[in-house]
Amino acid sequence: MKALVLAGGTGSRLRPFTHTGTKQLLPIANKPVLFYVLESLAAAGVREAGIVVGSYADDIRLAAGDGSAFGLDLTYIRQDSPLGLAHAVSVARGFLADDDFLLHLGDNYLDGGVTDFAARAAAEPAAARLLVTPVPDPSAFGVVEADPAGRVHRVEEKPDRPRSDLALIGVYAFGPVVHEAVAAIRPSARGELELTHAVQWLVDHGHDVRADVTTSVWRDTGSVDDMLEANRHVLDRLDGRLDGKIDPDSAVVGRVRLHEGAVVRGSRITGPVVIGPGTVISDAVIGPYTSIGANCRVHDSSIEGSVLLDGADVDRAGRIERSFIGRDAVVTVPRHPYAHRLVLGDHSKVHLHP
Ligand code: G1P
Repeated sequence: MKALVLAGGTGSRLRPFTHTGTKQLLPIANKPVLFYVLESLAAAGVREAGIVVGSYADDIRLAAGDGSAFGLDLTYIRQDSPLGLAHAVSVARGFLADDDFLLHLGDNYLDGGVTDFAARAAAEPAAARLLVTPVPDPSAFGVVEADPAGRVHRVEEKPDRPRSDLALIGVYAFGPVVHEAVAAIRPSARGELELTHAVQWLVDHGHDVRADVTTSVWRDTGSVDDMLEANRHVLDRLDGRLDGKIDPDSAVVGRVRLHEGAVVRGSRITGPVVIGPGTVISDAVIGPYTSIGANCRVHDSSIEGSVLLDGADVDRAGRIERSFIGRDAVVTVPRHPYAHRLVLGDHSKVHLHP
């Protein structure tokens, strides 16, 4: 079966990180969210996948290449403006032709992947098959009402009063009739062509729409808190391996993945922790649940439950918790201790200790 991965959205809830990069390339345990999606599609038997890309097309192409690293043959499809998930399906019409396909949002992490779902979709094809999971706050998602046999009779996009607790988790399987639905719907109040509306159109026109419930861990990595939680979850399954250098004054306990070219001096690392190549940790306390990218520097600081992107520099910063620190960002103590000096990009958030 073909697959379509949607990676064209703007990621406004992840600003400021999405001012300078795309959310699908933000890392969970030092690996882009998108790579988990591509790996899970390949594991499900997909060989041919399209990626719908927007303004960060070049970055995504540079990271994922022709797909051969994942065992996939990737086709890049340009979506000039982020006009909704159904619009993304319409720009991929040529690639999809009249084939059945799996659709996976490029910023959703699903533990265990989509192998079972893809097998069910192939064995019992339907006009649409929706992977759903019970959530405590369904109004933040597409919400599905289905009968006990899984036949869907209503889908609503972020309803104020959800009629069920089953949320769409960004994984779907479609037959070619979806293109008829996409062509028939009109933009929603937020100005987007909603995939949810296309699915409701299928229901209204008597087509077979099914819901499959999963209880695997799922994260829509749309916000910093979601990213930190996905990071924590993936680190819980991390295999430790120490390829970098650790001096005799350091202690490394628990599952720690220290990449080759990383250096640890006079520090204590408590896993699960991943530390990328070229990173130097000195006189610091790191972990647990912390991912530090490549070519970072952490000196005389303590970092827990946090993510540092490549090139971040943290120096004499005291104790840092539940933080997400961007590429090449610098965190240090002020030269004059009576005042904070801040150089912050648009939409940054700083939580200062009183
Ligand atoms: C989109 C879909 C929504 C779905 C969600 C899953 O919402 O419109 O139906 O539940 O993805 O992550 P968005 O995250 O684009 O607001």
